[in-house]
Amino acid sequence: GKVAVLFGGSSAEREVSLMSGAAVLAALQATGVDAHAFDPAERDLHTLKEESFERAFIALHGRGGEDGTVQGALELMGIPYTGSGVMASALSMDKWRTKMVWLSAGLPTPRYAILEQDTDWDAVVAELGLPIFVKPVHEGSSMGATKVVEAGQLRAAWELAARYDSLVIAEEFIAGAELTAPFLEDRALPLVRIVAPDGNYDYQHKYFTDDTRYDCPCGLPAAQEAELQALVMKCARVLGCRGWGRADLILTEDGRPYLLEMNTSPGMTGHSLVPMSARVAGLDFTALCLEILQGARL
Ligand code: DAL
Ligand code: MG
Repeated sequence: GKVAVLFGGSSAEREVSLMSGAAVLAALQATGVDAHAFDPAERDLHTLKEESFERAFIALHGRGGEDGTVQGALELMGIPYTGSGVMASALSMDKWRTKMVWLSAGLPTPRYAILEQDTDWDAVVAELGLPIFVKPVHEGSSMGATKVVEAGQLRAAWELAARYDSLVIAEEFIAGAELTAPFLEDRALPLVRIVAPDGNYDYQHKYFTDDTRYDCPCGLPAAQEAELQALVMKCARVLGCRGWGRADLILTEDGRPYLLEMNTSPGMTGHSLVPMSARVAGLDFTALCLEILQGARL
């Protein structure tokens, strides 16, 4: 039956989603799936039903697509869709509540504070130390995020993040290896280690420059990688994620992991990490897209 590849949308990550969606669409069409592009910024989702789409592949990133809203609309229309359901999508889009769930499940994540107009900036610096990552709570791809290295920059970092979101989070900086860990159904895929040249894996590095190094296999001993994969499956489970996704984490030099966030609709661009990891696991991009699509449900 007809498959809609939902992409674009109107979030700050629209450009990323256009790249993800184009790649997924081409891969599905090349294997004979009756897949069609559907940009929710240009078309009303309700036409999916009128146009007899039977399934949706969600390649949207950010709010209004990765956050449970589109998932809810598809539920009401009875159209099975890829990835996490309404609750896990909404929860994972919220970096603050994600951390609260992980902490209450005993899972490690960096300490944090919520920043507001009347925040005592010095108290935040005293509590979290420097550097501090300041991020919009509901954003992806490092949009609106700043690595604050001096106390005096904290307020400006808050102002920038607040342009994207009414909620802004400050997170302590954890020194260590930057890792990302995809999962596909109940199977953890190989970890990818990200080595940005200047230690700043930001929006430009994520999509537009070629100077970031990606190690997959990640170089950790197999037993340690398996432990981290088990942690990732658990952190996905407590959020209620399903289908596929990707958790980002830091591993300190003395072997302590810290979970940063869960992405329920990870990037599928030429620079993206889930496809890289899947390839090492023996799934080329097309096989990956097909397996994600096979997992579509209500
Ligand atoms: N938010 C981007 C798309 C990612 O996590 O891959
Ligand atoms: Mg993210």
